[in-house]
Amino acid sequence: MSNITNEIKKRRTFAIISHPDAGKTTLTEKFLLYGGAINQAGSVKGKATAKHAVSDWMEIEKERGISVTSSVLQFNYDGYCINILDTPGHQDFSEDTYRTLMAADSAVMVIDASKGVEAQTRKLFKVCVMRHIPIFTFINKMDREARDTFELLDDIEKELGIATCPVNWPIGSGKAFKGVYDREHREIELFSDTQKGTKMGEVKKISLDDPELSTLIEEDALSLLEEEVELLDGASAEFDQELVSKGELSPVFFGSALTNFGVETFLQHFLSMTSSPLPRKSDKGEIDPMTEKDFSAFVFKIQANMNKAHRDRIAFMRICSGEFEAGMEVYHMQGGRKVRLSQPQQMMASERKMVEKACGGDIIGVFDPGIFSIGDTLTTSAERFCYEGIPTFAPEHFARVRQVDTMKRKQFIKGINQIAQEGAIQIFQEYNTGMEEIIVGVVGVLQFDVLKYRLENEYNVEIRMDQLPYEHIRWIENTDIDLDKVIGTSDMKKIKDLKDRPLLLFVNSWSIRMTLDRNEGLVLSEFGRS
Ligand code: G4P
Repeated sequence: MSNITNEIKKRRTFAIISHPDAGKTTLTEKFLLYGGAINQAGSVKGKATAKHAVSDWMEIEKERGISVTSSVLQFNYDGYCINILDTPGHQDFSEDTYRTLMAADSAVMVIDASKGVEAQTRKLFKVCVMRHIPIFTFINKMDREARDTFELLDDIEKELGIATCPVNWPIGSGKAFKGVYDREHREIELFSDTQKGTKMGEVKKISLDDPELSTLIEEDALSLLEEEVELLDGASAEFDQELVSKGELSPVFFGSALTNFGVETFLQHFLSMTSSPLPRKSDKGEIDPMTEKDFSAFVFKIQANMNKAHRDRIAFMRICSGEFEAGMEVYHMQGGRKVRLSQPQQMMASERKMVEKACGGDIIGVFDPGIFSIGDTLTTSAERFCYEGIPTFAPEHFARVRQVDTMKRKQFIKGINQIAQEGAIQIFQEYNTGMEEIIVGVVGVLQFDVLKYRLENEYNVEIRMDQLPYEHIRWIENTDIDLDKVIGTSDMKKIKDLKDRPLLLFVNSWSIRMTLDRNEGLVLSEFGRS
């Protein structure tokens, strides 16, 4: 096996998804701690600032700065080279959050043990399901009072529609959280004090049948554990690696990111159960990183330069096969010509550095003079191919936007198109109303502020924005539809995208159901094609 194939095999590229505050940052930090990439918890940059309510562009810039530096973290652990993709949450939740998942080979879902499945987890989870990637669940904050463990599993299965298989089981919760029971080895892992998570702490492993156990765990807790394990062995799904790989069964782990309890056990199991970089679909069939020698990558995120004097950008790409070397020339499929990939950057722990070499599974950011679009393919292969495009995700907030000064129409159109091309917003047109106004759709409301600020500052165009009451958008899948003939509810709105494809806007999901009932054969989709 070649060196490069060996390197690729070591890669584990995954995203961490969670609802804000479930503990994603803390867990990531603990992974870095175990990987030796940081010495002390609390050093992952940007966490404090990331939590501020964002009110002006300076703050947004800072926030974007942070999301640049924390887009990908790379570190080594136990012979693996790990790439963690950050999925921005909080106010800067946007389409980028979804797109990041397109670059991952698996996802770790962090759930707060006292809350269960929350809204944002649900949304991100849907994208993972669409891609059939393995999903691992870490039930966090077991050091606080948690909901009943069976109830939590039930919640995941019902809310998300995925079967679960607990790999370990918690012993108590809150102050009484002592450790976890490893179901496969029938042994208990007891955790030692970690000085509030600043030290790694030790794990004592002891068999469930060992008489010493009664001196370590209170009798009540032990008999409850035995009862629960018996119940679990009879009722829960069996571990099945194939179902895990297809994303149909989620292995579940329990722990506390804050105190480190259960974190390393989770990391070890997870790394052995998830896969190295997977083959990707292209228009010439699947491209397998284990057999394809040439470099290939696709762009999944574009970030505008924070310095407005330079309207250049950083294009983030996921390398799918082969090896990357700084300054190399590759063929840009969509542009139809060769380009040199310059100023490549990669993030190591909390530092951003120039990268000399990278390989399949890695994520790099390269300087983009404005030629790349989301979903573009780059390759050195003589056989040209394009990776499958990245879907357009449904925006949930809409506004009608127009320029205040009618003389500035040209700049307005140029600016709004460029910002849409970066993927920060989606733009639509009125259907059959004769109005020239543009409708903007965004996944996170912060993007409206970003749009207004950038149009004013970078394009010198002042805009008026009227928010619209719609919350749902649906692409019409039928190719032979006459939009005039679609009968909707009175609060439904018909619009077009820039390629003249018809779409529908709805105020609530009830209207979607009514419209489907009223139009036999109508097929609506939550994901658009780019
Ligand atoms: P996020 O990235 O998913 O938004 O969550 P983050 O890690 O920032 O954690 C949110 C809050 O929950 C933080 O507290 C963090 O310390 C706490 N937390 C994370 N994991 C655990 C855990 O296992 N147990 C307990 N008890 N708390 C946990 P904060 O007060 O908002 O921030 P901080 O000032 O303590 O850092």
